[in-house]
Amino acid sequence: MLIALLPGDGIGPEVTEQAVRVLDAVTGDALSFERGLVGGAAYKAVGHPLPPETLDLARRADAILFGAVGDPDCDALERHLRPEQAILGLRKELGLFANLRPARLFPELADASALRPEVAARIDLVIVRETNGDVYFGEKGMRTTADGLREGYDIMSYNEAEVARIARVGFETARARRGRLCSVDKANVLETSQLWRDVVIEVSRNYPDVTLNHMYVDNAAMQLVRDPGQFDVIVTGNLFGDILSDQASMCAGSIGMLPSATLNSRSQGLYEPIHGSAPDIAGQGKANPLATILSAAMMLRYSLGKAAEADRIEAAVAAALAAGARSPDLGGRMSTAEMGDAVLAAL
Ligand code: NAI
Ligand code: MG
Repeated sequence: MLIALLPGDGIGPEVTEQAVRVLDAVTGDALSFERGLVGGAAYKAVGHPLPPETLDLARRADAILFGAVGDPDCDALERHLRPEQAILGLRKELGLFANLRPARLFPELADASALRPEVAARIDLVIVRETNGDVYFGEKGMRTTADGLREGYDIMSYNEAEVARIARVGFETARARRGRLCSVDKANVLETSQLWRDVVIEVSRNYPDVTLNHMYVDNAAMQLVRDPGQFDVIVTGNLFGDILSDQASMCAGSIGMLPSATLNSRSQGLYEPIHGSAPDIAGQGKANPLATILSAAMMLRYSLGKAAEADRIEAAVAAALAAGARSPDLGGRMSTAEMGDAVLAAL
């Protein structure tokens, strides 16, 4: 099975290296990795954040393991050359529209959550975030108003087919879990959200076994901190899902703990930690690789049909945490490689 390995820039190469060590340990030589350049690393080497060879590799691969992109050296570049265009481009070109972001608190990390332990202990949810539409992909630009003021704009839009297909993923995910789906929108002010809500209700008729409720995004942000245990599956758009999943990560101890899968309609998947390239700690061996290692487990489960191997990795992460493995974001002193060692030792 061919894995496109796209480390990216910043801490991306550091965390993916540990994930590859863990994958090699559980799969023997069943996986072959082919490296591709993305993000700032690609821009610096070949002048584009998503070179055609990388896109071709991603299309050919059985699954994609992605690190992170966001090299601040590229901040001054025109938007289409910025590293983030690599992840947006991969999602769009491969039709990767369904981003699944599970958030749960390993009991061993109760002390690391920003919430009181008894509140945090109840978090066990999945955010299903749409990643092919919304304000990220709408028409955008800069113009000058009649009064001579600079004005930036980004158009937010969703059509009903886009909403229906992500809603179905939300309902299917809820059906396979505790049977509860919360659709998050801002229907009190946004037309996009009104359509979102209407279509989610239409799709719900095919899922009588799933309990649906709706929540405005501002309230959802509050409820995630007040009582995260009330959520099973959250389905939402690209922008709201981006923000809510970073927020959920704090309930789960650290942004360095949360994995994600982004799937297309052919069940091809891109697997990556939810965090970015963390330029503030890049190159220092301080990054927590567990989010990427857990993303590799999701890859085995969802794209490669290796659920038993995925279970082994998740159990090894729990065992490493139980044995005291802590990177700085979790209040400890272990390096990125030592965290990888701890997972390998537990395996
Ligand atoms: P970030 O997620 O990179 O970092 C936020 C904070 O969390 C930083 O203090 C960082 O040190 C910490 N952090 C992140 N991952 C960590 C890990 N594994 N272990 C320990 N600490 C960790 O978000 P930020 O700073 O907003 O963005 C940095 C760059 O990354 C930007 O250029 C942004 O556009 C890009 N980005 C890329 C993403 C991707 O590649 N999918 C996703 C999010 C942001
Ligand atoms: Mg984000």
